[in-house]
Amino acid sequence: MTKEVPPLYYNNDTHSFGFSTARSRWPNILATAVKDTELEYSQSKNQDKIDQGKVIAESIKALSKEITENCELTQFKNSSIPSLDSYDETLASMGGCTWLTGPWLFCECYMYRRVDALFKSSSEWLNFDVFNRLKRETFKSSSAGIYELAVRYKQLKEQINAAETLDTETLKLLFEEFVDVSLWGNATDLSLLANASLDSIKSLQGKEARAKSAENILCNDLPLAWDRLLSVPFEERRVDFVLDNAGFEFYTDLILALFMLDAKLTKKVVFHCKTRPWMVSDTMIKDYDIFVQDMLDTSILNEHHAELQHLVESVESYKAKGQFELQDSEFWTGDLDYWNLNSEETKYGGKELWLYFQDSALVIVKGDLNYRKLTGDRHWPRDTPFVTALNKLASSGIHILALRTCKADVCAGLPTGKDEELCELWKSQGNEIGELWCSSGKWAVISYSDGSK
Ligand code: F6P
Ligand code: MG
Repeated sequence: MTKEVPPLYYNNDTHSFGFSTARSRWPNILATAVKDTELEYSQSKNQDKIDQGKVIAESIKALSKEITENCELTQFKNSSIPSLDSYDETLASMGGCTWLTGPWLFCECYMYRRVDALFKSSSEWLNFDVFNRLKRETFKSSSAGIYELAVRYKQLKEQINAAETLDTETLKLLFEEFVDVSLWGNATDLSLLANASLDSIKSLQGKEARAKSAENILCNDLPLAWDRLLSVPFEERRVDFVLDNAGFEFYTDLILALFMLDAKLTKKVVFHCKTRPWMVSDTMIKDYDIFVQDMLDTSILNEHHAELQHLVESVESYKAKGQFELQDSEFWTGDLDYWNLNSEETKYGGKELWLYFQDSALVIVKGDLNYRKLTGDRHWPRDTPFVTALNKLASSGIHILALRTCKADVCAGLPTGKDEELCELWKSQGNEIGELWCSSGKWAVISYSDGSK
């Protein structure tokens, strides 16, 4: 693959979404984390927890100040928490950097690890997920989309069970439909909600909105992924999902996974989760248990109980039979990009995952942040072939299907001229910087690599 790779995106590039992210989105996210920490200890009677909580809240405020004052990022020097040494090494290798001028992706990962390290260093807060309230509230507010999909799923499962066989063309169309649902499920990322209204989320989740959104998929390699799937003998067919957000997106991923299991498009599905709270909304294994609980709680979701229960029973039954599994790895919250999924990355799980994915029929990589890590978050011209932007991951033997709504600068795989066209369109809609069409969440890419380049 390419020897020469383009430069990273930096927080002082005024044409990058990193610019406003570092200056306004991060301080907003941290302010909410302070509030939720305060809320948690204000409801506690445990004095140690209250005292530690106060220190954590103050430390998050100080972190926010570091960012707005453009301070230097400091070393963690904390060997008791996995992979922080890797952050220190990377920071040292770039000779340090400051918050508002450093590489966007690294600074962003580092910020979430700073927050996490505060909780992980406080005995009464070890398992506290500071983003939990946000994750759950947004899931609850997605009830219209949740009902719609649960009803659709139950009907479909009954039809699948009733049919003797389903022809390949029908299965392919259904597969496309559920991939679409899972793709746009990512449009409800909580870290973007600061500026979005609940109404617009709801409309995104509606069927009509999804049909319209299909026009906004800028490249679509799904047929290649479909052929790959069917080329693997059924008994050996495992599909892995590198998950992104909990809540509604997780729900749409689950629906896609259940459909694939029901329709015997795969023998097994494995969901890969984060080991710690990450980028506000990302899925941890414990979020699955919360999801099951919320789905069955009629005080939260008070309609279509039979359909919701049916969906939960389906997934629990696959789980009991070992056909559905949740795993996590430290690798996903490290600072390294996914080019480090290889036989040499021994530091915190890259090698184990690489080995595991060798047996996967398809690794479905969800969401924006994962896409940034697939492509190194670099200034690839946007018509660069996807496999080129994967660098050495393109020859890793891993069959990757990226489902990504575009919420950051990096993008590859577009037809020549499309980027220029969208820059112009974005400007004509009253936006100052044309390139930022790619961070708006209005467009998406479906890209595939067979791992053999
Ligand atoms: O802060 C930017 C970012 O990393 C973007 O890439 C994206 O807007 C968001 O955070 C995470 O999005 P997703 O949940 O789709 O990975
Ligand atoms: Mg996310």
